[in-house]
Amino acid sequence: MTAALEVDKLVVRMGVQQILNEVSVSVPERGIVTVLGANGVGKTTLMRAVSGIYRAASGRVVFRGQDITALPSHRIVAAGLAQAPEGRQVFASMSVRENLVLGGGMLARADFERTFEEVLQRFPLLRQRLAQAAGSLSGGEQQMLCIGRALMSRPLLLLLDEPSLGLAPKIVRQIFELVASIREAGTAILLVEQNVRQALKVADHGYVMEGGRIVLDGPAAALRDDPRVRDAYLGGAG
Ligand SMILES: Nc1ncnc2c1ncn2[C@@H]1O[C@H](COP(=O)(O)OP(=O)(O)OP(=O)(O)O)[C@@H](O)[C@H]1O
Ligand SMILES: [Mg+2]
Repeated sequence: MTAALEVDKLVVRMGVQQILNEVSVSVPERGIVTVLGANGVGKTTLMRAVSGIYRAASGRVVFRGQDITALPSHRIVAAGLAQAPEGRQVFASMSVRENLVLGGGMLARADFERTFEEVLQRFPLLRQRLAQAAGSLSGGEQQMLCIGRALMSRPLLLLLDEPSLGLAPKIVRQIFELVASIREAGTAILLVEQNVRQALKVADHGYVMEGGRIVLDGPAAALRDDPRVRDAYLGGAG
């Protein structure tokens, strides 16, 4: 079976600094894979390199059997890989509707209408706020919009970079329920999270990054019980 995503020995440099050092990550079709690691280890850089925002110095990114390493980001989105970026990054002065329309820009009319309706069914709250400026939404609502905008491209793989960051516990729970339900609907997910406990609950497999390298990986349940993960990322106690 082809994987949704195969990242093979990816190297990303910024000037003289090597940010990613031969990073290899695999996401199966309909799988949830999480990448864990402290601040500044290169998680967002990995997401950006996969989605074509940063260029790889070497290594390959293969999406459903197709080498996308050198493709521009809009072609990668059109191929079925969408990203909900770190820090949400909705277009603040544009309305909720306009943000969603941008996410589905590559769809034919009929697909667009159907997808718009699906996304609003998933996020009833956004339906009530379609005309409102995105910047006036609460943090949790902006995160929902950011994910909704990514879903507008009907992705087969969704990259989620810190979706729960800075949100109240109730919203955090909703985000993780959402992640599970997006996978149920058939989309594979690559998830970066500071909330390691929740991330390892929802994911099938996890990778741990340190200093631009993958230092550990395994089934999520095994990582949850691994003393190295517990000590460094789960505050010691299981
Ligand atoms: N465009 C850039 N130019 C220069 N350095 C960069 C650039 N993007 C990232 N870096 C550097 O790469 C390293 C990894 O950053 P990255 O944002 O990938 O980390 P992260 O794991 O996502 O951290 P966090 O958990 O804080 O979001 C950092 O040292 C950062 O300063
Ligand atoms: Mg980051």
